[in-house]
Amino acid sequence: MKSAVGISSIGVHVPEMYISVEELARLRQVDPAKYVTGLGCNKIALCSSKDDIAELALEAAKRALSRWDGNISDIGLLAVGTESGLDMSRPLSAWIAEKLNLQGNVRSYEVKHACYGGTLATRQAVEWKLAGMGKNKVALIIAADISLYAEGDPGEPTEGAGAIALIIGEPRIAQIDPMSFPYSKPVFDFWRPIGQQFPSVQGGLSLECYIEAVKSCFADLTAGRNLEQVLNQFNAMCFHTPFAKMVKKAFFALCHEHGWDDALIEKIYQQKIDPTMEWNRETGNSYTASLWMAVARALCGLAIGERVAAFSYGSGCGAELLTLQAGPDALQGAWREDILRDLASRREINAEDYKKLRARV
Ligand code: HMG
Repeated sequence: MKSAVGISSIGVHVPEMYISVEELARLRQVDPAKYVTGLGCNKIALCSSKDDIAELALEAAKRALSRWDGNISDIGLLAVGTESGLDMSRPLSAWIAEKLNLQGNVRSYEVKHACYGGTLATRQAVEWKLAGMGKNKVALIIAADISLYAEGDPGEPTEGAGAIALIIGEPRIAQIDPMSFPYSKPVFDFWRPIGQQFPSVQGGLSLECYIEAVKSCFADLTAGRNLEQVLNQFNAMCFHTPFAKMVKKAFFALCHEHGWDDALIEKIYQQKIDPTMEWNRETGNSYTASLWMAVARALCGLAIGERVAAFSYGSGCGAELLTLQAGPDALQGAWREDILRDLASRREINAEDYKKLRARV
C-alpha cells in the first residue's frame, strides 16, 4: 500500500505595504460600503518597487524550508503556480532555483492557469509522489501573485498580493487525499492577452462561472449523498477568495440548490468558512496563493484527522475540490508566525502614495 502524501511544511509571505479599501473608495469617490459590505473587501497588499514576484515567492519558500528538517538536495521537484510570471519562456521557478542553489536531478517549471495554477502544481506534486516518481524526494510548490487591475476598474478594490510555499512529502501538517474533484469549461471570464498589462474582465460572467464550478465540484464530491452530512465531515471549508462576498454568494447558491434555509447556510458559513478568510482579508486577492492562504489558516490548530475541504478556481475556467486531513504538526500551526510578523511590520499607505505607486507600475 502506498504511504500517504501531503504537506510537510508551510511558508507564507505578505508584502510590506497595504492600502485600506476605504481609502481607495475615497480616491475613486465611491461609497466605501460598496467595497466593505458589497464585496467584503478589507485591505489590499501591495509590493514596493524593490519587491517583485520572484522576491515574494522566494521569501515564502525560504520560510517553508527554514521549518523543515531536510536539505535542498532532498528536493526533486520545484513548481511555481503564478499568473505574474516574469518571462514568456523562462519559468519563475528558475529565479527561485538560482537563489536556493537548486539544480541537478530536479524537475523545475512554472504552471499557469489563472488562480488555479498553484493547485495544479500541488496536485502534480501529490500525484508525482503517489506514482512513486518522487522516490524519497520531496516537492517544493510555490503559489505567488501580484494582482493589479487598471486604475478605476471595477476589480480594483479586489487587488492584492501574497505568496505561499508548501513542501509536499510526508503529511506532517496535512494529508492531501488522492481523490479530487475537477471541473473545467472554456470561457472568457477573466483573461490577459499577451502584451496587455492588466486583465480584461467580464465581471458578471466570472461570478456565474465561479458559482457553476462550485456546484459542479461539490456535486461530484457528494455523489448523490446528503449535502449536509457530507459537509459535516469538514471542520473547515476553504475557497479561492477573489473577495469574501464571492465565497458567500457561491456557498449560498450551492446550499439553496439543496433546499437549505438561509439561517442554516449562514450558521455553517460563519462556523466553517468565514474564519478561514482571516488572512485573505489582509491580502486581498492573491490569485494562485488565495486558496492556499485560506487552507494554511484553516489548518492552524486542527487536531490529527480533522478535515478541510479546499475549492480552487481559476478563470478560463478550471476548478478543483480537494480534501485534506490534519496531521500532527497542524495543531501547533508554526507558519502563523510568518503572517503575524509580516502584518506587524507592514506599512499602510494613503491614496496619494497609491497613485504614485501605480504611476510606477
Ligand atoms: P461592480 O460591477 O463594480 O460591483 O464590480 P456591483 O455593482 O456588482 O456591486 C458589487 C456589490 O456591492 C453588489 O452586491 C452591490 O449590491 C453592492 P450584490 O448585489 O452582488 O450582493 N453595493 C453596495 N453595498 C453596500 N453599499 C453600497 C453599495 N453599492 C453597491 N453603497 C465585480 C464587482 C466583482 C464584478 C468586480 O469587482 C470585478 O470585476 N472583479 C474582478 C473579477 C472577480 O473577482 N471575479 C470573481 C470570480 S472569478 C475569480 O475568482 C478568478 C480571479 O481570481 C482571477 C483568476 O482566476 O486569475 C478573479
